[in-house]
Formats: sequence, C-alpha cells, structure tokens
Amino acid sequence: MVSSDKSKKLQKDIDSALKQAEEVTEVVKKISEVKDSDDLKKIEGIEISEVAKKLLGTEVSAAVKEITKGLSLNTEGIEELRTKLVGRKSAITGVLRHIKDLDQIKKKIVGQKTNQIKSQFEQPTKQIISNFSSLKLEEKLKETAFDFTLPGKIPPIGNKHLVTQIIDEVAQIFVGLGYQVAEGPEVELDYYNFTALNTPADHPARSLQDTFYLEGVKDTENPEEAVLLRTHTSPVQIRVMEKRKPPLYIIAPGKAFRRDVADPSHTPMFHQIEGLAVDKDLSFGDLKGTLEVFVKQLFGEDRAVRFRPHFFPFTEPSAEVDVSCALCMGEGCRLCGSGWLEILGCGMVDPNVLEEVGVDSEEYGGFAFGMGVERIAVLKHGLDDIRRLYDNDVRFLEQF
Ligand code: PHE
Repeated sequence: MVSSDKSKKLQKDIDSALKQAEEVTEVVKKISEVKDSDDLKKIEGIEISEVAKKLLGTEVSAAVKEITKGLSLNTEGIEELRTKLVGRKSAITGVLRHIKDLDQIKKKIVGQKTNQIKSQFEQPTKQIISNFSSLKLEEKLKETAFDFTLPGKIPPIGNKHLVTQIIDEVAQIFVGLGYQVAEGPEVELDYYNFTALNTPADHPARSLQDTFYLEGVKDTENPEEAVLLRTHTSPVQIRVMEKRKPPLYIIAPGKAFRRDVADPSHTPMFHQIEGLAVDKDLSFGDLKGTLEVFVKQLFGEDRAVRFRPHFFPFTEPSAEVDVSCALCMGEGCRLCGSGWLEILGCGMVDPNVLEEVGVDSEEYGGFAFGMGVERIAVLKHGLDDIRRLYDNDVRFLEQF
C-alpha cells in the first residue's frame, strides 16, 4: 500500500502526463494533416524545441530543448521526437511504469488511456514521416521540372544500313581468305579511273560508262587530268599497286557513280567491292575457285553461279558472274529478266595494267574482280527494287 502523500504526488504526475500526452496527440495530429508543400512550408524549419514547448509545457521543455537542440522538423527529426515523447524515457512511459503501483480500477483506466494516447501518437507520427518523404520528393520534382520516377525513354537503337552490312560480310569472307581491306578516293582523276586501267582516251570502252565529270576540270588540255566521280572501284587497284609491291591480296569497298537513270536495278550512286590478287603463278582457276568459294559462302550452297565470257579493258580474259535470281529462282522476272542477276565482273589482270605501275608482268600475274553491293542485297534478300535502299524509309531499313 502506498502512503497518501506519495499517492497524491503520483496522481498529479499521472494527470499532467496524460494532459501532456493529449496535447502531444493534438499537435501531432495537426502535423500529420500536412497535405501539400504549402502546409509543409508552414511547419518546416520550426525548431523541435519550439514544438516541444507547445507539447510539453515549460517545465519539461527546457530539458527537451537541450536534447533536441539543432533538430528541425524533418523525417529524422520527427523520428527523434517520437522516441523522446513515447520512447523509454518519455513521460508516457513513465506513467506506464507507475501503473503497477495503482489500484485495480485506476490501473485499468490509466493503462487504457495511456496506451490509447501512445498508439494515437505513434500512428500519426508514422504518417508524418511518410508524408514528409513524399512531400520532399514532390518538392524536388517541382524544382527540377523533371519526373525521374517516370519510366525512361528507350532511345531507338539504329542498325547498320543493309549496304554497310553486306560490305562488312563480304569483307569478312575475304579477310578469312587472307585479303586486306584498302580504300581510294571517290573523286578521282581520269588517269586512275580509265587511262591506267588500259582504257586510253580514245578507247571505245570509255563510252560504255557515262561519267560524271566535275565542272571546269573536264575540258583540260590533258584529258588524264580531268576530275570525275569514279565510275567503278577499279582505280583503287592502281593506287594500291603504285604504293605496294606484290604479293598483294586486297579488297576495296566504296561508292561508284554513273549517269544511269534510276530503275529497279540501277541508281546513279551505288557501291562496289573491288578485289585484286597479284602474285606469282596465279591462274584463271584461282580466280574461279576464289569467287565460287565466296559466292557459296555469301548466298549458300543452293544458289547457282555462272561465269559468262565478257570484255573489260583492264582484264584479259574477262568474265561476268551471275547468280540465280532470289525473286524468281531462275524463272525470269521484272527484276532479273532472264532468271540470272549479274553480280560481278572479273578477269586476269591485263599485263598492260601491271606494267603501267611498274610490276613485271613476266614475273607476276593476277586476277581482279568488282562486284555490285546493291545487286548482292537484291540477291540475298529478294528486294524488288534497289531504290528502296536510298528512300531512307526506316520501316524498310530496320528489317535488315
Ligand atoms: N570495274 C568493273 C565494272 O565496274 C568490274 C571489274 C572489276 C571487272 C575488276 C574486272 C575486274 O564493271
């Protein structure tokens, strides 16, 4: 049994603690009603010691002020306040601790009330903490005007143009056969495009290729100095042989230009891949074998290949190579006409070409070939019109 003095004091303590706790609940409720950032601004930055003063009355506030010094109202601050107010050392816990000393009836009432206040306090505190975090996020979003919680835009990832893919694929095959990749200029001198390739100014073969000449440099005294857009990649043969001694095994991919009217199988700009092999003891058999291996690797074993005798000024003998058409499979159609599509010209390098660049044609011989990249695209994928390659329609290009 407790003495009546002690009992009175305890009753006072309990009453004041309950009152404080009720006030706490009241203020915490207010804080928990924070809905938008304007509300937040109103309470943000209030020193917790200020809040504590309101909550706990002046007697306790000095101590709380000391403990919560420097804390301002934010997520951590609120959490701190919560432990101060309902934690182990708080007034409410003090009340609960003394309950055991009360009589049966008081025990029940005070216990219930205190726990009620405690839970009433804890719930809104949690709410405040979550409100604070989302308000902070909202603030940040407004500041940056960028909602970084939105799913990111996936930038469209492009792919290589079909022409580039084919050049890569062809290069891969020839690199596998020991060839090196070379390049030459698209704007070329008449000399490299024609003369050095055994096609002198008065040679009838020159008229076969309608050429884009550059304005002003066409009518020079010396036709070899005329500047033009190369009509084929063969000038790279000359440029490479001028610089390097045989044995040579090179391929040279690039653009070529001819004054063709665009139709399903022609465009004024197109791509070729030149090939040149210069070595001792190379025969037409080596050329045939190389191209057959290449064609079968590129198109598959089931595609038919045929060599047709032809004429090129810079090769002797010369041939054209056709592959059976992918659209009609050899029946004949709008694209191929006859069932075959010409993909390359080839032949044994003419001794005049070798001599022109100072290679002894008695000691060395070679073969050369030049293929049309767009033609290969048609053959590989059954395109009905090569002009589609240059329409820049992504819906078409992204299929490859
Ligand atoms: N340059 C020739 C053309 O464009 C192709 C070719 C290259 C032929 C190499 C023989 C040797 O038609």
